[in-house]
Amino acid sequence: MRKVTYVLKVGGAALTDKNTGRSFVSEVSDYVAADIRKGTRIIVVHGAGYGAHRFVRSRGMRRAADNQADWARLRRNVSKITATMIDRFIAYGHAAIELSVPSMVRTSSGRITEFNLYPVKAYLDMGFVPIMHSDAPPDSKYGVSVLSGDDIAVYLANMLGAKALIFGIDIDGIRSSDGRILKAVRKQNIGKLYTWDVNDVTGGMKRKLAEIGKLRAGTSAYIISLRKRGSLSKVLYGKGAGTKIY
Ligand SMILES: Nc1ncnc2c1ncn2[C@@H]1O[C@H](COP(=O)(O)OP(=O)(O)OP(=O)(O)O)[C@@H](O)[C@H]1O
Ligand SMILES: [Mg+2]
Repeated sequence: MRKVTYVLKVGGAALTDKNTGRSFVSEVSDYVAADIRKGTRIIVVHGAGYGAHRFVRSRGMRRAADNQADWARLRRNVSKITATMIDRFIAYGHAAIELSVPSMVRTSSGRITEFNLYPVKAYLDMGFVPIMHSDAPPDSKYGVSVLSGDDIAVYLANMLGAKALIFGIDIDGIRSSDGRILKAVRKQNIGKLYTWDVNDVTGGMKRKLAEIGKLRAGTSAYIISLRKRGSLSKVLYGKGAGTKIY
């Protein structure tokens, strides 16, 4: 039987406090690496977090590559998070390997039009854990454009027929307007969910939910907290955690 595939989006909201900029990169990387059992077929896509969102907004960098040095700096800074994450994964015995999104992906007006899946599949088949991050691939309309980790994760989950796409943030799941964490939501109802804005340049929770709406019928999404250990392992090996969207 073919092994099931999971996609994990480690959100910038888990990795950094989006109000203060405080970094949780080491802790969150540790929790994630500890919660994944060796041999699990999983792809990790991480977000950029506070610093990158602020940088992109302050420089008005949503689209055209009018300042190449800014784009180069942005990408270099995000890849520092990847380096820390890979160090922690390797410490826990996972063969984590960085894959570069701009080397595989092309977008048009910010939407993925090409994705060479060969490296992702080949490394997965060999037992590696591919790690990517929200990125700035070449774009046929804009020059270079910001591509959110959410878009990458949803695309991969659909193309690889993932069993689940797990979004790790700083909160235990989707909070309703009265403060409760919702246990389960049907995909057809996600448009009605209450959301607030945290200055995320790629649309925050509202856009994340819209992307989740594009998941194929066989793929469930989970929103969990990655600021603590245990929720991820409950989704991967237990009865679930956080909010399930199905
Ligand atoms: N109903 C809701 N339930 C839970 N969180 C919500 C809700 N509405 C808005 N949010 C906010 O959405 C945030 C997560 O989305 P956001 O896009 O900011 O993070 P991310 O995708 O993890 O970060 P990045 O884009 O850097 O990867 C949470 O930190 C929370 O403040
Ligand atoms: Mg986001």
